[in-house]
Parts: sequence; structure tokens; C-alpha cells
Amino acid sequence: MSTLIRNGRIITAEQDYTADVLIEKETITAIGSSLQMKADKVIDASGKYVIPGGIDVHTHMDMPFGGTTSSDDFETGTRAAAFGGTTCLIDFAIQTKGQKIREALDIWWKKGEISTIDFSLHMIVTDLPEAHLEDMNEMVREGITSFKLFMAYPGVLMVDDATIYRAMKKTAENGALVCMHAENGSVIDMFVQKAIAEGKKAPIYHALTRPTTAEGEAVNRAIALAQMAGAPVYIVHLSSADALEKVAEARDRGIPAFAETCPQYLLLSIEDMERPDFEGAKYVFTPPLREKWHQEKLWAGIKKNTLQVVSTDHCPFCFKEQKELGRESFAKIPNGGPGVENRLQLLFHHGVNMGRISVNRWVEIVSTAPAKMFGLYPRKGTISIGSDADVVIWDPNTEHTISASTHHMRVDYSMFEGFKVKGNAETILSRGEIIADKGTWFGKAGRGKFIKRDVFAGAWK
Ligand code: URP
Ligand code: ZN
Ligand code: ZN
Repeated sequence: MSTLIRNGRIITAEQDYTADVLIEKETITAIGSSLQMKADKVIDASGKYVIPGGIDVHTHMDMPFGGTTSSDDFETGTRAAAFGGTTCLIDFAIQTKGQKIREALDIWWKKGEISTIDFSLHMIVTDLPEAHLEDMNEMVREGITSFKLFMAYPGVLMVDDATIYRAMKKTAENGALVCMHAENGSVIDMFVQKAIAEGKKAPIYHALTRPTTAEGEAVNRAIALAQMAGAPVYIVHLSSADALEKVAEARDRGIPAFAETCPQYLLLSIEDMERPDFEGAKYVFTPPLREKWHQEKLWAGIKKNTLQVVSTDHCPFCFKEQKELGRESFAKIPNGGPGVENRLQLLFHHGVNMGRISVNRWVEIVSTAPAKMFGLYPRKGTISIGSDADVVIWDPNTEHTISASTHHMRVDYSMFEGFKVKGNAETILSRGEIIADKGTWFGKAGRGKFIKRDVFAGAWK
């Protein structure tokens, strides 16, 4: 099977030009003006952008959490991702305490077998006795080249500083990358217990018990631990100016500290958590939403490359049956929100259309930098000869109103309900196969492949 995309405006992180793109089987094989080759299918992309498919490096499909399980599995979640222009994602395998990380990997590989797009996994480490350190090398050999550790959620996912240091020492040796959930979980837990004892149980207290200082402190500590271990560190879902300053300050000193933020921190605020009738629960995730003024600081962080990546932290729980679990207490609301489908639209509209970032920077934060950071580049994350034909034809002029009534995520609300965006994915190709076109789905469960990733060190040296 071959496909020729004619006359599109090809946008990569570095370039912007009009050309044809030839795809043979799963790969881009030629790029040029007025290509003479014949193809089984020809797509006229005049007036449209041709971009590398989005890569979302932070999702939680089918994840047991907070007494329930995230409502998208790898089939529904990846289908929704694809409709929004994302053609590859990195989800998380979770090691439960006492479990061998190899066993955790096998469980999550199985979950991923129904994926409709290519995927990989980070490994969440919750337990790392000296005897299991060698297992991290085994993960790297399997193409799992990043590990997430938690400084929050005591008793569930949180690990102590010694464990973090030990894991970082190992990644300094084996070239993998530690991804850090940076919030001071022990102090937050004291704030949570105090609020509950005082009868403060509404969703807003989720935010009020997790101050930005607790995030800034943990980011600072994570970077210091990485520095002592001689390893790079990647801060996930960074939400506040306090945390951003710590990353910026480290980078100014030449420390390899990296970070992502998410659309919710750029576009929503703590005010959303005060919505009446328990609607604030729709916005309960961790770190929490912040005061509005943090948003422009984060956009500036994207512009200056203090933040390299925008992911979604897609972790959907239905409002009616799942968020409901916390009606009596914010501490019982399952933490997480949906967004895998809307990342490219929101960043294009609020970033490019609003003049905050260039179209090249948009491609960089949603596709190229994630690919480089997590060992997928140049196989993915760019439009070049030899790259996987994960290609999105993007219509910059089409208008769309985001709504739970039309989205494809398996969740009964949208965090961005009613947001109007200009620019949307029109045709989505995954390794050369058209899996969605003008709102019609052609993909199949199980066609997505697990992708073995290279180590981080190679791409950023
Ligand atoms: O609230 C969130 N972010 N849920 C997903 C788990 C995590 O911490 O990333
Ligand atoms: Zn997290
Ligand atoms: Zn997450």
C-alpha cells in the first residue's frame, strides 16, 4: 500500500514548506515538490498542514486508582487520542509494592494489546530494594527507558528520597530517565487530615491542601537528588510558577532538568474547582489547578523552553459513578481528568492562533520533543525520509466546539466543555494506514504496536 499526500504545508519543529509526501507501506519514503511517483491513494492536502502525529507521553489507560479504574482502556483511549491527532502514547505500567517490576510489565503489556496506535510504557516504581536494582537494567533492555517515581500519595505510590536517589544512580548508569511526580506528599497528607478533621470536605479542599510551595519544594529536592546522582530528571505535570522557577534556575546552572505541563494547567484554574453541585470534582487531579496568574507563567515557560513537552496526564473517571465516590470527602475523589483527545486542538488554538507560540514550536511540544526526550526520535516525531508514517493532516481553519456529547473518550464529561477551537486533525495515518478521516474511524483494536524505546542519553547529549 502506498499513499501520496500532495501539496500540504509540511510543518516540523524546524521547517515549514510546501511539498508532497510519499508513504510506502509503513514508512515515509520520499518528500519533494511535484513527486512523479504513482501511489495507491492520493490525498490532496492543499491548504492543510502535514505534521508528525502527536505523541502524548503521559496517559493512564485502564489504571486502578482511588478505589476504581480509569474509564478509558487502551482501545477507547487510543481511539480518542487518534481522533485528536495523537498517533503514539506512553502510558504507565505500575509496580505494586513487593511485586517484581518484570511482572508489572507483563500485566501492562497485556492491557496494551488492544491499542489502536503505537504505544510504549514508563515503569512506575514503588518498591526498589537493593536486590531489585538490576531489574531496571532489564527494563531498559526491553525498551522501557523511563521510570516514574512519586514524592506524593504516601502509603500508595510514594517512595522515600533514598529510593529516588538509588533509582537515579541506576539511570545515570543505564541511560534511562527518571520522571518525577513532585509534591511533598508527607506534608500534604497532614494538611489533608487537618482539613477533614475540620469538616472541610468539598472538592476545593483538594487544591487548598496541596499548595504550590509543596510542589516547588519537591521539584527542588528532585533536582538536587538528580544532581547528586549525576542523572537527568524530568518533572511530570508541572502546574505552578513556584515549580517552574526551580526548573528554570537549575537549567540556568546547566543541570539536565526537564519538565512537562498539561493543557489543564495552561487553561483552567482553581476557580473551576468551586463549581456548585459537586461539579468541582471534575477538576480534581494532582497537582491541583492553580490561581489563574500561573497560566501565563507556564506559557512563558513553554516559549523559553523551560518546559519542553506538553502531555495530558489523561486519567479519566466518570463524573456520575466514579467522581461520586468522593461526594462525602474530597480525599476520596479519584484523582484524574480526561484530555487525550484535545491536546493538539487546545495548544494550536490557545498557543498558535493566540500568538503565544509559533506553529513550529507547537509541533515541537506535542510531537518532536516528546519523541526526543523518550527515545522515539527520529522514528517518530518528525516528517522525514525513513520515519514511521505517523502523519496528521491538520486543517488550520476548521472550527470545533469541545463537548462530552461529541468526544470519543469514554467519560461522561469534558474538562473543556464549550471551549471553541479553530484547527483540528482531519486525516490521521498511523504507520501509513489511514485510521481516521473526517470524523470516520477506520482503525482496529490491536493494530498498535508496543515500541521499544532507545535510552534518553543518546538524543539529548
Ligand atoms: O491526578 C492525577 N494526576 N492522576 C493520575 C496519576 C498521576 O499522579 O499522574
Ligand atoms: Zn503524577
Ligand atoms: Zn499521571
